[in-house]
Amino acid sequence: MADEDELDRLLDKLTLRARVRLVTGATTWRTTAEPDLGLRQLVLSDGPAGVRGEGWDERDTSVLLPSASALAASWDERLVEEVGGLLASEARRKGVHVVLAPHLNLHRTPLAGRHFECFSEDPLLTGRMGAALVRGIQTHGVAATAKHFVANDAETDRLTVDVRIDERTLREVHLAPFEAAVAAGVRLVMAGYNQVNGTTMTAHSLLTTPLKDEWGFDGVVVSDWGAVRGTRDTARAGLDLQMPGPAEEWGDSLVRAVEAGEVEESAVDDKVRRLLRLATWSGVLGRPHPATRPPLRSRRARALARRAAAAGTVLLANRGVLPLDPGRLRTVAVIGAPAARTRTQGGGSAGVFPQDEVSLLDGIRAGLRGRARIVHVPGPAPEGPPPPLDMVLCSDPITTAPGVRLRILDASGAELHAEHRRGGRQLEPPLPPGAHTVEISAHLHPRTSGTWRIGLAGFGRLGIDLDGRPLLDGEFTTPTDDPAVIHVSPPTQTVTTRLTAGTTALLVARRELAPGTGRATVVGAAPDGPGRTESLAAASRAAREADAAVVVVGTGEQDEAEGRDRPHLALGPDQDALVRAVARANPHTVAVVNSGGPVELPWRDEVGALLLAWFPGQEAGGGLADVLLGRTEPGGRLPTTWPARLTDAPVTRTRPEAGRLTYDEGVHIGHRGWLRARRAPAYWFGHGLGYTTWDYEELTGPPETPAGEDLTVGVRLRNTGNRAGREVVQVYLHRPGPTSVDYPERWLAGWTAVHAEPGGTVVARVCVPARSLCHWDVHAGGWRTEPGPCQVLAGRSAGELPLTLEVRVRDRT
Ligand code: BGC
Repeated sequence: MADEDELDRLLDKLTLRARVRLVTGATTWRTTAEPDLGLRQLVLSDGPAGVRGEGWDERDTSVLLPSASALAASWDERLVEEVGGLLASEARRKGVHVVLAPHLNLHRTPLAGRHFECFSEDPLLTGRMGAALVRGIQTHGVAATAKHFVANDAETDRLTVDVRIDERTLREVHLAPFEAAVAAGVRLVMAGYNQVNGTTMTAHSLLTTPLKDEWGFDGVVVSDWGAVRGTRDTARAGLDLQMPGPAEEWGDSLVRAVEAGEVEESAVDDKVRRLLRLATWSGVLGRPHPATRPPLRSRRARALARRAAAAGTVLLANRGVLPLDPGRLRTVAVIGAPAARTRTQGGGSAGVFPQDEVSLLDGIRAGLRGRARIVHVPGPAPEGPPPPLDMVLCSDPITTAPGVRLRILDASGAELHAEHRRGGRQLEPPLPPGAHTVEISAHLHPRTSGTWRIGLAGFGRLGIDLDGRPLLDGEFTTPTDDPAVIHVSPPTQTVTTRLTAGTTALLVARRELAPGTGRATVVGAAPDGPGRTESLAAASRAAREADAAVVVVGTGEQDEAEGRDRPHLALGPDQDALVRAVARANPHTVAVVNSGGPVELPWRDEVGALLLAWFPGQEAGGGLADVLLGRTEPGGRLPTTWPARLTDAPVTRTRPEAGRLTYDEGVHIGHRGWLRARRAPAYWFGHGLGYTTWDYEELTGPPETPAGEDLTVGVRLRNTGNRAGREVVQVYLHRPGPTSVDYPERWLAGWTAVHAEPGGTVVARVCVPARSLCHWDVHAGGWRTEPGPCQVLAGRSAGELPLTLEVRVRDRT
C-alpha cells in the first residue's frame, strides 16, 4: 500500500507543469511517465467482456467472456469473481494495469444500446455482481474501474443528455451499485459523458459527495474517453484524470488556470496523490510487483468461459423437451443463421478479438459427434449489414493467404504501407505520414451463386469496386461526435451484386481519410440466400425429418451496440416465421435466442423449449451443448424483466426532450415498475428453470428486527424432481400500507443458491442487509428505516413468491 508521506515527498519533487502532465493522459490508453520519480506509464484497457489491450484488431486476441447480462444471469458471485481473475490474468498478459470494468449502469429500458454490457435492472444484483468482479480483478493486482458514474443508462445523445433524477432515486437505485463497488475497494471510477440535473458528470459535485467524502473513495476518478469539455469546472470537481491524451482541456490550459488562481493548486495535488497511490498499488511506481497472476493456460481459460456461458443460459420454458437425450437422437436439425455465425458479443468499446469462437452449431456438432447426424439449414438471411470478411470467404490478392490485404495510400495513390490481415474489420489501421486512403482488397471465393450484399462501414468518401467495376462511390458524413460510433461502429453502406460459386472476384474497398471521419473501415459480404419461402420450406423439411430441432434466432450486427439505442425489440418477420415453421414441423423444437437483451418472442408458447443464450462469449457452442444435452443445468435466472411487447414496458423512452431525459419512474425501476403498473411481462425478473422442480415449503425468521441490523431468514425447499439441481432462492420485501414513503410494490432484498439431490430438503439462509430496509430521507439527507410491519416474500422470481413472513421492524431505541 502507498505510504502517504512518501506520496507527499514525491509530489514535492514535481513542478506544477509536471503534476498536470501526470493527470492528463499521454496516449489513447496510457498515462504519462515521470522517470525522475521512477513512475512508469499506467496502461488502461476496455472491458468488460475481455481485456482488449492497446491494439484494436484481430492480431491482438483476447479471451472473450459472456457479456455482463449473461454473467449476472448466473446470480453466482463466486463465478463472477473467477471471471474477474481471468480478466486480471489477461490484463497481466497484455501489460495492462487498469481494466475499464465493471459497467454498473442499469437496465432502465430494454432499448438501451449497451444493455448487454450492464448486469441487471436491479441495484442489488448489479452491486453484488459488480463487487464480485472488482474483487476478482483486483485480488490479482490489476485495478478495476466502476463505470459510468452515474445514470448513463442509454445511448441517445449520450454526450449531452441531461438526466433529470431525484435525490432519493439517485441514492437508492443508480448510485447504489457504485457504492457497493467502492465498498469492495474499486481503485477507479469513470465519470460518464452525460449530465445529471444540469451538470456534466466530469464536473459534478457527486464526484466529491458522496463518492469521495461519504464513501471514502481514495482512488482515481477517470473521465470517460473524451468526456472532459472544460478546464476549470472539471479540475475543481472531483475528476482526477483526463483520458485520453494528449488533451487540450487539461494539460497547458490547466497549468494556466492554476497560475491565474482559477483552480486551487491543492486540487491538482489531490489528483496527483491519487494517481501516485494507484501507481504504487499497480506496481508502476518504484519496484514493479511480481506478477501475482500468471496468464491462465488457454485450456483453463476456455473451460471457465464455457462454464460461464452455461451458467448464464436461462431456460425460460420447457415442455418436456430438455434436456435432449443423446441416446435417442439420430438426426438433429440446427436451424438459423446465428447457429453458424453466433453473435458472441455486442458492439462498441467492449469488443475484443477472440482467437477462436465456437459457434452454437459447432458446439452441438461436437457434443453429439459419433452419436447423431447434424443437419444445418440457415433459414432466411439475417437483416442488417453483411458481417465482416473472414478467412473462410476470401484470400489476400497478393499472397493468396486466407484473409485480406490492407494498404495505406497517399494522395497520389502510391502505396505507403501494406500488410496481410485476417479479416475485413480494421479499426486502427497504421497511418504513416501522408496517409490519405485506407484500402482493403480481397479475392472473394463464393460458395453459393446468386445475389450477394457487399458492405463498407466508415465515414468520409467511400468506394467499392468489384473486378474493376465501381459499385459504390460517395461521401458519407459523420452525424455525431460520439467516439464509439465514429471509431468503432460506423454505419454500413450496402450494395448488391451477383456472384457465382466456384469463381473468384476481386473486391477493392477504399475509404479516404479526412479529419473527423474516424479510424474505422469495415468491409463485409454475405449471400442473400434463397428467397424467404424457399428457405422456410427447407427449414421445415429439415425439422420434420429430424428427431429434434434447435432453431437459433437473434439480433443483427448493428443492433445492440454502444453509441445508439435500439428502435424496437422485434426480431423481424423472417426470424419469427422461421421459429414458427420449425416448431410446427417438429414438437421437439428448442428455440435459442442469441441476443444481448430482451427481444419480442411472439411464438414463445409454441416451442418445446426456450433458451436464452445471450451474447455468450467465445465458448458459446460448448456452453449451450452442455445445457442442451443435460451435462449441466441451465444455471441462469433473468437479471431483467422480459417484456412480451415493447409497448408493455414501463420505461421505453431513450430520446431526451429538449435535451432532458427525466427518470419519472423514480425508484420503481425494472420489476418494481411492472408491479406498480400492474402489468404482466412475458417473464419476470428472477425467472429461469433448471432440470428439476422445487417445492418452497417454509419461510422462517424472527418476528421482529431492529432497524439498522441485517435480517436473516431461512427458506426450506424440497427438490421434487428426479435430478440433483441448483435453485436460486430469492427474497423480496414489501411494506404494507399506509406508509409515508413511496416504497416499491416489492423489491429484491437478497438471494442465495442451494443444491439438493432428488427428494432432498435444504434450507437456504438468505441475508437481508439492513440497507434493504432503508430509504433515503431527502429532508434529513441520510438513510432511514421506518418502523412498522414488513412482509418478507420468498420464491423463484419477482412474480412467483409462494412464501410470506411478517416481520415487525422495531425502532432501535
Ligand atoms: C466508453 C467507455 C470505454 C471508453 C474507452 C467510451 O466510449 O463509454 O465505456 O471504456 O470509451 O474505450
